[in-house]
Amino acid sequence: MITKVLTVTDTTINDVAQEAANLLKAGQLVAIPTETVYGLAAQIYDDNAVKNIFKVKGRPQDNPIIVHISSLSMLQELVCDIPNVACDIIDKFWPGPLTIIFKKNKCISDIITCGMDTVAIRFPVHPVAQKIISYTGIPLAAPSANLSGKPSPTSASHCLHDLNGKIPLIVDGGTCDVGVESTVISVVSEKPTILRPGIISLEEIKEIVPEAVVSDSVLRAVRSDEKVESPGMKYKHYSPNCDVVLVDSDQEHFVEYVNKKAIDGDYAICFQEEYTLLDTPSLVYGSVIDAEEQAHNVFEVLRKIELMGAKRVYIHAPKQTGKALAVMNRLIRAAGFNVVTIDD
Ligand code: TXA
Ligand code: MG
Repeated sequence: MITKVLTVTDTTINDVAQEAANLLKAGQLVAIPTETVYGLAAQIYDDNAVKNIFKVKGRPQDNPIIVHISSLSMLQELVCDIPNVACDIIDKFWPGPLTIIFKKNKCISDIITCGMDTVAIRFPVHPVAQKIISYTGIPLAAPSANLSGKPSPTSASHCLHDLNGKIPLIVDGGTCDVGVESTVISVVSEKPTILRPGIISLEEIKEIVPEAVVSDSVLRAVRSDEKVESPGMKYKHYSPNCDVVLVDSDQEHFVEYVNKKAIDGDYAICFQEEYTLLDTPSLVYGSVIDAEEQAHNVFEVLRKIELMGAKRVYIHAPKQTGKALAVMNRLIRAAGFNVVTIDD
């Protein structure tokens, strides 16, 4: 199959969205831009199309998929109940980079939810994503448009690298603003629980819902046989094809450690402030004080380091609070939980 890439501009947006919608209505898969990462979309009422998402990505059969909507009226048909706490979260954060887990309605197939009685719903704010969903007229099931286990795609070229020849169309809407996937919050658990941290942080959610908590699986390894609320947390994720060591320390100790340990073929991924202090070839993923910048760049640098042929990469760990928790959650998985902690 030839994979076409269509670029969105002010003048092409309607035609490109229409072409994407036509393919989706016909049961094809299309990679689409969102404000977080690119998604690999299929319309939710075509079981074969949804099955094809798992096949094309090599996705484990027990990892459910997020359903994307472009209006609140679409939400009504998909879920049994919209608890008050969900209404508050929706009022504040939708459309935007936040996914909510609800009890599902019968119309959602078990293929999407992997047999769970809940469904994850996201209302993206990206104008191209919204237009493609509304032209299709049906909600879209869409995981990130990468091969399973690889860093999520934040540009059309990342999608092409992973999916060339496997899908008919990639819609190029430029680089994703946010750069990490949406915050996932469950409103069916006892307390509203963040299952995957994103750019909308616990602190921001607590301003609306003070009782919200973060799942303890966010920064730890989950056993493959363990029953967890978010199956995605079980898998090794976001990994470049090399050894990854996540170094949790201050700047001085990071620089000292890498300069001592790194050999030929090793690289570092570091903060702007320490770049010139390292003897090892390095990529910067942002300022130490700017979690939004780190999130925007993290998947891009993980992909670059693999293309550069690194054998091993030392990554300076971000903070574990606020928006930086989302970056730490991705990097700890990219490192397969291989963390070196250096205290003062
Ligand atoms: O920003 C995003 O969320 C992107 C864009 C494309 O929208 N999508 C995305 O999808 O990251 P994916 O499949 O890569 O991640 C979905 C996460 C997984 O961790 C999955 O286990 C979880 O959401 N999930 C989906 N349905 C769920 C459910 N019913 N209950 C608990 N977790 C669920
Ligand atoms: Mg993913």
